[in-house]
Amino acid sequence: MKIFLDTASIQELRQAISTGFVEGVTTNPSLLARQKSDKTVEGLLLEICKLQSGPVSLEVDEDREESMLAQARWFRQLASNIVIKVPLTPEGLNVCRILRSEGTEVNVTLCFSCAQGFLAAKAGATFVSPFIGRLEDSGGCGIELLRDLRSMMDHYGFSTQILAASIRNPRHVAEALQAGADVATMPFSVLFQLYAHPLTQQGLMLFRQDSQTKAPFVSS
Ligand code: G3P
Repeated sequence: MKIFLDTASIQELRQAISTGFVEGVTTNPSLLARQKSDKTVEGLLLEICKLQSGPVSLEVDEDREESMLAQARWFRQLASNIVIKVPLTPEGLNVCRILRSEGTEVNVTLCFSCAQGFLAAKAGATFVSPFIGRLEDSGGCGIELLRDLRSMMDHYGFSTQILAASIRNPRHVAEALQAGADVATMPFSVLFQLYAHPLTQQGLMLFRQDSQTKAPFVSS
């Protein structure tokens, strides 16, 4: 399973890349709006795409098919690793089909059911993004959705990759792994939480204490 970073922050991206684990980036209009930067959105994206050579998802924010398509075509010329994110709506899926026929990678976002994921796969999406955290916020079961999507993709031989999104904690990452998601996109904080376990910290402290009292490695 690949790890993508869900961010529009250059600072977070730089630090996360230094772990050696980040293989792509996802953004959305809310993440971009939160950036307090003197850069334009275009400038920000160019910098993100320069730092990260893997897929970088950029979401359209138009509703009508023609304007969505025009925006997507403008976005994709920004960098060769841009993936166009479209919503799971009739217009979004039509745009997905057209963009895919033009060779553009597409991430269909805001997926909350297996039936929706099926439509995204039939429209030829490169990625489909089930929103685990938001589904759970509304009483649904994230891992069940991921498992259903996995068996549907495998049973029918779809090549659409399952990109687990709206990940809020390490349990969601573990569930994405158990269900066989292809990618998990996570916030910066969750990436660093993956390293942590109280017993690792406790064990480290104990080893440090004991190493103060051990015999020297070499005699002086
Ligand atoms: O990739 C989609 C993700 O950013 C949504 O996360 O936490 O806003 O539900 P969240």
